[in-house]
Amino acid sequence: MVRSRITAAIALGANVGVPERTFKRALSLLERDGDIQILRRSRWHGTGAVGGPAEQPDYTNGAVLVETTIATAALLERLHGIEAHLGRDRAREEPRGPRVLDLDLLYALDEEGAAITEGGPELRLPHPRMEERPFVLGPLKEIAADQRLPRSGRTVTEQLAFLEEGGGLARLDSPAEARAWCDAARAAGASIGFVPTMGALHEGHLELVRRAAMENDLACVSVFVNPLQFNDATDLEKYPRDFAGDAALLAQVGCAMVFTGSLEAFFPGELVEGELPAASHVAPGPSAAGLEGDFRPGHFDGVATIVDRLFDVVEPNRAYFGAKDFQQCLVVQHVAARRGGQPEIVRCPTVREAAGVAMSSRNALLDGASRSRAEVLSRALFATKAAWAAGERDAAALSRLLREGVSMPGIEVEYAEVRDPEVWTANAPEGVMERAVGLVAVNVGGVRLIDNMEFDEGTR
Ligand code: PAF
Repeated sequence: MVRSRITAAIALGANVGVPERTFKRALSLLERDGDIQILRRSRWHGTGAVGGPAEQPDYTNGAVLVETTIATAALLERLHGIEAHLGRDRAREEPRGPRVLDLDLLYALDEEGAAITEGGPELRLPHPRMEERPFVLGPLKEIAADQRLPRSGRTVTEQLAFLEEGGGLARLDSPAEARAWCDAARAAGASIGFVPTMGALHEGHLELVRRAAMENDLACVSVFVNPLQFNDATDLEKYPRDFAGDAALLAQVGCAMVFTGSLEAFFPGELVEGELPAASHVAPGPSAAGLEGDFRPGHFDGVATIVDRLFDVVEPNRAYFGAKDFQQCLVVQHVAARRGGQPEIVRCPTVREAAGVAMSSRNALLDGASRSRAEVLSRALFATKAAWAAGERDAAALSRLLREGVSMPGIEVEYAEVRDPEVWTANAPEGVMERAVGLVAVNVGGVRLIDNMEFDEGTR
């Protein structure tokens, strides 16, 4: 049988050991069986680490273009085999942590030069993050400068220049400027997907922005640490802030505009002695009662008030929220309903770190010991979900399991309970449940963390 030849681009990265030597060994292993030929390789580039633990060494990155007759899945398997052979242990590594060797398949072209697409859980081609990463595009430019990229339609050279010039991102300092920008975009016929945030952006937020950019003409983001939703002054003060870093990340994920502001700028002329009077507040609705509502009095009032104002500014078609804040999603649904169903609220799945911890801006405040203790939240949720899958339907038994699962030294449990995700009740329901979501809130090492899991998710 004559097997068709494909051309594939592979990115190399490492920041442990001597990357140049590891890369050399990786490339000779790649060519060892004679069915892969290296056509071109970039120089090795030194780049700072992006995300992950603080103070990890700088990375060395490169790219190679290969020609092969083996299929893309087999090529990926070969790359993983080489990583393992040279010392990488995927099961034990930290997300974005130090790497002995990282080999990523970026794209593959068939004999006609058309991009091969793969959408499975193991292999996605073209690589979904390739266009966001200057440290990938830099080396790639040396070996495939004119290759057109699928998402942006730009060549590698054009996309790299675009990112270096700020990714076309408008950075605005006031809600008034943001309103004018959104009005102009809407007048030009563009649909707007909106992601409200309090900054300190992580992969969970970036996923919301990517989705907003994919499902709308323009994605925009607000970064505002909203004092109205903090009932604890120390918590407000400690909340991480990094607007420049946030904007740099947003420039890479297809965000068109980011804006920030102050309480005064969001509520001009409404503050009385620095406080927002009751008449300017928006009621959060019935799903604010219980759990978060009990432990953070006034929190959802503050959320509803700012989200309603943010919607006034942006007037988005769709607004994207993470399911990690389950009760908040219900509250913003209520806010949208009282605005006549606008915008459409899109609840997006929680993004988890490899150890299961739900991504949160507050994770940045955890020290080493607290970080590993934090794994107990998702472990308890998965264990209760397993009991649900095995047939447990009694509300009290499920809540008990969840609480037992999170109770351990060093963890102060605020709540661990189940609710019916479709019929919110302030108190835990009793008896047999038809649907269930487990919700937990704990304090670990002085940091408040929440998480939840719908037990039927992925099974319906
Ligand atoms: O989820 C958040 O970050 C905040 O509660 C929100 C929705 C941006 C309102 O300040």
